[in-house]
Amino acid sequence: MTTGDPTGVAHLYVHLPFCAARCGYCAFVVEVGRDDARDAYLDAVLAELRRERARLGRLDTVYLGGGTPTLMGAERLSRLLASLGPMLAPGAEVTVEANPETIDDAMAGALAAAGVTRVSLGAQSSRRHLLDVLDRRAQPGDAERAVRAVRDAGIPRVSVDLMLAVPGQSRDDLAADLAWVRGQDPDHVSWYELEFKEGSAIARGPHAPPDDDLAADLYEQAVDGLESAGYRWYELANFARPGAECRHSLAYWRARDYLGVGVGAVSTIGGERRRNAPGLDRYISALAGGGDPPRTREGVDADTRRRERWMLGTRLAEPLDVAWAGAPDNPDALAELEARGLLDRRDGTVVLTRRGRLLQNAVMQEIMDFA
Ligand SMILES: C[S@@+](CC[C@H](N)C(=O)[O-])C[C@H]1O[C@@H](n2cnc3c(N)ncnc32)[C@H](O)[C@@H]1O
Ligand code: SF4
Repeated sequence: MTTGDPTGVAHLYVHLPFCAARCGYCAFVVEVGRDDARDAYLDAVLAELRRERARLGRLDTVYLGGGTPTLMGAERLSRLLASLGPMLAPGAEVTVEANPETIDDAMAGALAAAGVTRVSLGAQSSRRHLLDVLDRRAQPGDAERAVRAVRDAGIPRVSVDLMLAVPGQSRDDLAADLAWVRGQDPDHVSWYELEFKEGSAIARGPHAPPDDDLAADLYEQAVDGLESAGYRWYELANFARPGAECRHSLAYWRARDYLGVGVGAVSTIGGERRRNAPGLDRYISALAGGGDPPRTREGVDADTRRRERWMLGTRLAEPLDVAWAGAPDNPDALAELEARGLLDRRDGTVVLTRRGRLLQNAVMQEIMDFA
C-alpha cells in the first residue's frame, strides 16, 4: 500500500478477535476456538484496508486491539504491519495489545522488528484471587516476564492495564497492585473500573461488585498512588510518564476521525459512524467475495457530536474549548459547578478540577440533559 492523502484519516484501529478463552467479564467481539480462520481473517483485513485506502492519510497512530492480537502469531502480525509500513507518518505510534502469557522473548523480538513502538499488556491485577475472579489465564509472574521481554526487545513504550472495583478487591489489594506498578515502572497505566456488561458471565453472578463507596475509595487510592509515583493523570482512567500518553486514545477523546477495520470494528469519519457487524465467517466471506463487510452506517448529527465532545473532552486533564465543542445544554450549571470547586473556566475553556474528575459522571449529568 502506498502513502495516502495527507488530509485523510490519521488514526487506524485493527480488530484481531482471537482469544484462547473468553474472560467472564468481557463483552468485546471475540472468537474462541477459531485459530483455523487466522489466515483467511488476515487476508480479509488486508482486503478491507485496500478498500479503505483512499480515506487514509499518513497514519499518526495504529492500534492493533482485540481479542488477543498476539494470538495471530508473529508472522501474520509482521505481514499486517509490513503492509501498513508505507502509510505511517514519521514517528508514528504503533500499539499492539497483548495478554501477558502470550508475550515471550521471541514474540517481543518479532514485534520490535515489525516496527511496534508500544505494547499494552492486560495485566488486570497482580493478585491471584482477583485474576481468578476475572477468569484470567495469566498467573502472577507472567506480567513481570512480559514487561521484561518487551523492554529487552527494545520496544520504546510499555503500558499495563489494571482493573478497579473487582469483586473481593480490598484497599490492601489495591495497595499491592500499586506497589507492583512501581516495581515494574511502565511508561503508561490504564486503570479501568470493571463494568458488569449485560450478557457477560460475571453479570450472571455469583460475584457482586463492591459498593459505590468502596469503588470510589479504590479509584481515589489508585489516582493518588500513581500521581505520587510520578504518573500524570491525563484521562480519567489513564496515567502516563510525561510524554508517554497514548496518542491513539487521545485521538478518540479529542473526537478526531478514525478508521476501524476488522470484525466488529467501528469508524467515525466525516460525520458518519460505521459499525462492522460481529460474525467472523460473514466478515471473511464478504471480503473474500470482493465486497464490503456487513455493516451499519449512521450520521453523527450536530447534537450527538456536541454531547460526545463534552463527554469525552471532560475526561481529559486538558481544557475543553467550548466554542469547538458547542454550547452545553445547561450553561448556568457551569458557574454553579465552578463555585462548588468542580470545574475551572478560563478563556472560553472548561476543565474539571481534581474533585470534579473523580465525580465526572455526576458533573456531566448537571451540564448536559441525557435522555
Ligand atoms: C478487550 S481487552 C483486549 C486486550 C487483551 N485481550 C486483554 O484482555 O488484556 C482490553 C482491555 O479492556 C478492558 N476491559 C475488557 N472488558 C472490560 C470490562 N467489562 N470492564 C472494564 N474493562 C474491561 C481490560 O482492561 C482489558 O485489558
Ligand atoms: S478480556 Fe481480553 S483475553 Fe479476555 S476475552 Fe476479552 S479480549 Fe479476550
